[in-house]
Amino acid sequence: PAKIAVVGGGSTYTPELIDGFARLRDTLPIGELVLIDPSEERLALVGGLARRIFAKQGHDGKIVTTSDVDAGVADADAVLLQLRVGGQAARNQDETWPLECGCVGQETTGAGGLAKALRTVPVVLDIAERVRRTNPDAWIIDFTNPVGIVTRALLQAGHKAVGLCNVAIGFQRRFAKFLDVAPADVHLRHVGLNHLTWETGVHIGGPEGADLLPKVLAEHGDELADDLRLPREVLDRLGVVPSYYLRYFYAHDEVVRELGTKPSRAAEVAEMEKQLLRMYGDPSLDTKPELLAKRGGAFYSEAAVDLAASLLGGTGSPYQVVNTLNRGTLPFLPDDAVIEVQAAVGTQGATPLAVPEVDPLFAGLISHVTAYEDLALEAALRGGRDRVFKALLSHPLIGQFEYAEALTDKLIAHNREHLAWA
Ligand code: G6P
Ligand code: MN
Repeated sequence: PAKIAVVGGGSTYTPELIDGFARLRDTLPIGELVLIDPSEERLALVGGLARRIFAKQGHDGKIVTTSDVDAGVADADAVLLQLRVGGQAARNQDETWPLECGCVGQETTGAGGLAKALRTVPVVLDIAERVRRTNPDAWIIDFTNPVGIVTRALLQAGHKAVGLCNVAIGFQRRFAKFLDVAPADVHLRHVGLNHLTWETGVHIGGPEGADLLPKVLAEHGDELADDLRLPREVLDRLGVVPSYYLRYFYAHDEVVRELGTKPSRAAEVAEMEKQLLRMYGDPSLDTKPELLAKRGGAFYSEAAVDLAASLLGGTGSPYQVVNTLNRGTLPFLPDDAVIEVQAAVGTQGATPLAVPEVDPLFAGLISHVTAYEDLALEAALRGGRDRVFKALLSHPLIGQFEYAEALTDKLIAHNREHLAWA
């Protein structure tokens, strides 16, 4: 049985993960699970519930909690990163100050996403270094946003890492229901970068099986468009299903207007977190609470289990959507860009499956955001006002000199305590 460490284990999301570990223990047998978090208080609450969930489901794996990263990751076979530097308070800022320039305020897209990258990359690299020191064979599974940039930082530093997001598994589950087939039989042709993806095919039975995307669109287009909050016409005219995050591009100004009239998502989530932590403290609670379903992380535990199982023992699904090096898969991007596509996964890691030529309608935006991610990583690694400015100027949702200047100042002013160089 494996030893798994979770950095950011005090997250209110953790019971979701524990529930997945418990339910899917045949796919991924776990002997020891270590929850690592700087907050002792959260560790006590979340760790307590985690133990009750395991006990209730008859899982005999041991659950350990610690604030000591080095001790926690020692001898782990896989380390899951799900941390949030600065917590919801920092996220609240990311979602707020960009609006002052008429730009979207979002935790991973646009200027807010850059701020998050700058705070996060150095912390994640430090943790990865500690993991490598104790166990160079350990796999790092990165859920920490912005996943594309963070995974690129990890891979560039030579770490054994794969980036993961729940957007693809969410669509896979959804389409399986529509088509009345098992989720494992749905193979997405999922193309792009983390939080910038389109489902361009829904293949049944295998990656080259019949493509039922036209059927999905014809029969469920209204429902999908409603959920994505995009006009149905966008899906029909593009002939694909964009991820929720494409709304920040395709309906940018509308989103900005809307965000200006309501509390930030971070404020909503902070409220939910208070409630969740109160519930976790109740010794009679031994399942993940319903309220967790209101968070964006649906199915993230199943994605994590599936990927860890494949990386550690080859026992997960043979093909999974992950974040990994491009290496020629999308010929219009550099080899060392990190892309989010379907890949063959096993104990050797992830190898992207071939992707048919990408429509310029999507390739253009993918290229543009890849260039931004490159500059964003430069800024995160080396710091400096000018690098921040260039990353912002390069972003397709910013682009104008005046805004990039103003946003640079705001980003630095709001994040000084988290930026060593500022
Ligand atoms: C989805 C995304 C995650 C993101 C989350 C936000 O799960 O894939 O990357 O962190 O939504 O959800 P929240 O409930 O925190 O707004
Ligand atoms: Mn995600």
